[in-house]
Amino acid sequence: MSHFILKRDLPLWYEARPWLDVRSNDEHTLYAYRIGQALLEVDKTADPAIVLPAIMLHDIGWKKLPEDKLTQAIGPSPKYPELVRVHEVEGAKIAAEILERQTDISFNIQHITDIIDGHDTRPEAISNEDALMKDADKLWRYTRHGIIKMEGWFKKTHAEIHDILVDFVTPQLLSDAGRSLAQAYLASSEADLHLNALMALEKNDD
Ligand SMILES: [Fe+2]
Ligand SMILES: [Fe+2]
Repeated sequence: MSHFILKRDLPLWYEARPWLDVRSNDEHTLYAYRIGQALLEVDKTADPAIVLPAIMLHDIGWKKLPEDKLTQAIGPSPKYPELVRVHEVEGAKIAAEILERQTDISFNIQHITDIIDGHDTRPEAISNEDALMKDADKLWRYTRHGIIKMEGWFKKTHAEIHDILVDFVTPQLLSDAGRSLAQAYLASSEADLHLNALMALEKNDD
């Protein structure tokens, strides 16, 4: 039972997983993959056979880097920002090898690896598929899973992470589908943040 992973992409998951067991990249990838499917439900113009394999393989390059530097390569004030580019280049190489090994299905290896090689450092999208891949990747940060992870990595509160999502992440989203989904996630996050205080409001409080 592979639940929401498509039969086509299951061999990719098995090949990617040993590369993803650092900094919760395996869990992050599963969330991003499912979010990618949601974006594809809204944006019918993008090719799922590009978007979903690209999501599945996009972060496999991180494992080539020293684990102790990974968390310090990303986030609000990264110490090793240059490593972000390295994980893209290494990831694209490993992805090409994985995709070439798949003999039952022919993937568009060039397009998928072009997306991976630039998924974090290239601010614009080279295609609709690239836009959805990038947005699915970022939208993981809005999930409960992503928020809890970032609170731990960056030693920030939920409220601080929420503000980062609003001020820095949301403006980077590239698709209408991604922007709409972000608003729904932010609404849920804000309700979480203020639920207890609102429930405790008394009539004469202002
Ligand atoms: Fe990445
Ligand atoms: Fe990612």
